[in-house]
Amino acid sequence: MKNSHSNIFAFNKKILKKTTKNLIIGNVAALPTETVYGLAGNAYLKKAVRNIFRLKGRPQSNPLIIHYYNFQKAREDVVINKFFKKLYKKFCPGPITFILKKSRKSKVHPIACANLNSIAVRFPKHKIIRSILKKTNFPLAMPSANKSTNVSPVNSIDVLEEFNNKIKIIIDGGKSKIGIESTIVDLTSTPTILRPGIISKNMIEKTLKIKVKSKKKFNEIKSPGMMKKHYSPGMPVLINQTKPDGKSAFVYIGNRYKGKKNFFSLSKNFNLEVAASNLYRTFRIIKRKGYKKIQISKIPLVGCGIAINDRIKRASKF
Ligand code: TXA
Ligand code: MG
Repeated sequence: MKNSHSNIFAFNKKILKKTTKNLIIGNVAALPTETVYGLAGNAYLKKAVRNIFRLKGRPQSNPLIIHYYNFQKAREDVVINKFFKKLYKKFCPGPITFILKKSRKSKVHPIACANLNSIAVRFPKHKIIRSILKKTNFPLAMPSANKSTNVSPVNSIDVLEEFNNKIKIIIDGGKSKIGIESTIVDLTSTPTILRPGIISKNMIEKTLKIKVKSKKKFNEIKSPGMMKKHYSPGMPVLINQTKPDGKSAFVYIGNRYKGKKNFFSLSKNFNLEVAASNLYRTFRIIKRKGYKKIQISKIPLVGCGIAINDRIKRASKF
C-alpha cells in the first residue's frame, strides 16, 4: 500500500521484498530506526556507499555507521573486545554505536569507513529495520537521512522534505521514539564517549565498572563530521536565553508559557527524555511556520540534558 506521497510506503511483505531487492543491487532506501531515520545502503558495495555520500552531500572524510542484525552477523567485520561484549549484552539492540577496530578480513567497503582502520557499528531496535537486516546477508551503511549539516529526520515526511523525490523508497515507521541520534562510544582504546545520547556516560560506566572519558572537542580523524556546523535547522539558534525577544520562536522546557504564541515547550512535565524526542521535530515545525530565528532557554545539564545541550550547541554554530 502506498501513502499519499508516491515514494513513501507503509511497511508490509511486498515492500520488504522490494527494499531488499534494491539494497542488494546498490540502491538506497530511507528507513526508520528508533533514534532517527537513516539513509541505508549495502555496506559491502562501493556503488551503494558512494550513492549515500553523494545524496547527502557528505564529505568523504566523514565515516558512516554500519548497522547489523546481531553480534553474530558483525563478528567477521570487527575486532571484538571485552567492553564491546559487555555493552552489547546490556544495551543491544538499542541506541548505541561502538567504534571498534576493523578486522583485516572485513568486507565493509573502505569508503564507508573513510579509509580508517576503525569502524562504527550499531544494532538498531526498530522492528522494521530489524526485519530488513535479518533478511539480508550484508550490513547497512546508514547515516541519518538528511542533507549534510541539517537536522536529522524523525518521520517519513521529514525525509521527503530533505530529498524530495531523489530517494525512491522511504518506509514509514511512524515517529522515531528516541528522536536524537545514538550514543557513540569509542572502544578502540580507553572507552570514550564521542557523541552523547540517551544511553548516558553513567549507564556505560555502571556496566563496564570503569571510568569512561568524554571527548569535548572532536579531532579531525576521530569524528570529522562533528567539527563543523551540524544539526542546523537552517536559521540562527541562540542558546541559554532568558528573555524572549517577542518575534523569534522561543523553545523551553515546562509549561510556563502555555498557549502563548511563539513559545514551544519540549516537555510540559520537565521530562528530559521527552524533551530530547521532541527537539528535531520542534525545529522543523518552527521552520515550517516561517520563523527566522530560534531562542532556546537553558536546558539542565543532567541525564538526557547532556545530549540535548550537545545538539543545540552545534545547532547554534550557524
Ligand atoms: O542514531 C544514529 O546513530 C543514526 C541512525 C540512522 O542509526 N545514524 C547517525 O549517523 O547518526 P550519522 O552518519 O549521521 O552520524 C555518525 C557519526 C558521524 O559523526 C561520524 O563521524 C561518526 O559517527 N563515525 C562513524 N565512523 C566513525 C569512526 N570510525 N570513528 C569515529 N567516528 C565515527
Ligand atoms: Mg547525521
